[in-house]
Amino acid sequence: AQKCNLLGQWKNTLGSNMTIESVSQNGEFTGTYFTAVSLTNSTILKSPLTGYQKISEQPTFGFTVNWTFSDSITVWAGQCFGNEKGKEILLTTWLLRSSQKTEQDNWIGTRVGADTFTRLTKSKS
Ligand code: BTN
Repeated sequence: AQKCNLLGQWKNTLGSNMTIESVSQNGEFTGTYFTAVSLTNSTILKSPLTGYQKISEQPTFGFTVNWTFSDSITVWAGQCFGNEKGKEILLTTWLLRSSQKTEQDNWIGTRVGADTFTRLTKSKS
């Protein structure tokens, strides 16, 4: 199988940008996430992410973004795939949890979706 490395800058189909800055020996990683879209009316800010990946050629991984501009949390789980041409792709499923006022409102608190990430070649602030 082709190798896939999580380190670096990624962009998803929504236009969100993610930078994975470091991956430790045990697969723990950190970075920042800049979402292109939001449920809130607040100004979107870069937010920190942390997660784990397996140490393998096409690693499975999971990470959390702690949104600094909203009460929500998102988690992604996915796998890093590499193809014959050396192109890497991250296929993920996410859960976005938004804060609810009461237990009775819990049912509406979680959204689910899928994000596909490819490498961002151009640098972006
Ligand atoms: C919020 O609106 O409270 C925080 C931003 C949520 C953005 C979501 S997370 C899943 C999906 N993938 C993205 O890149 N952005 C949206």
